[in-house]
Amino acid sequence: MPSHRLLFVCLGNICRSPMAEGVFGHVAAEAGRGEYFHIESAGTGSWHVGNPPDRRAIAAAARRGIDLSGQRARRVQTQDFEKFDFILAMDASNQADLLDLASEVHAPKVQLFLHNLPNLENQDVPDPYYGGEEGFEEALNLIERGSRALLARLT
Ligand code: 4NP
Repeated sequence: MPSHRLLFVCLGNICRSPMAEGVFGHVAAEAGRGEYFHIESAGTGSWHVGNPPDRRAIAAAARRGIDLSGQRARRVQTQDFEKFDFILAMDASNQADLLDLASEVHAPKVQLFLHNLPNLENQDVPDPYYGGEEGFEEALNLIERGSRALLARLT
């Protein structure tokens, strides 16, 4: 039975949050803790609903042995604030958009994904969508660090 329900959220749900869904699942499974987590991802925007992750995200994750190809984008829904224990925003702008949607009682569930890495100067995962392949590698590096820190916190 999952004891933690996590929703990773970015803008389009085709780059950062699908990578976070895949990487966190991989890191949790590696630690023998996969069964304790229910993990999904969603976007605050609806442009890409129903689409698979960006091919650059699929390729970058595949180079690390992580398969994102079965994921499909969806938009954040009001029920998500009930259903999930933590709603983890990839950047401060996603966090602000989520807080606009959340009721007061659910607002504490909305957190910056990288907030468990307090020594980072900037706790945003930069949006790689308009850049090159290297932006996806950088985003994945941050997402791996953030996933390990989050896993360590969720005992
Ligand atoms: P993501 O990246 O939020 O990491 O999925 C984006 C993907 C698409 C768009 C923006 C960001 N877009 O504007 O279409």
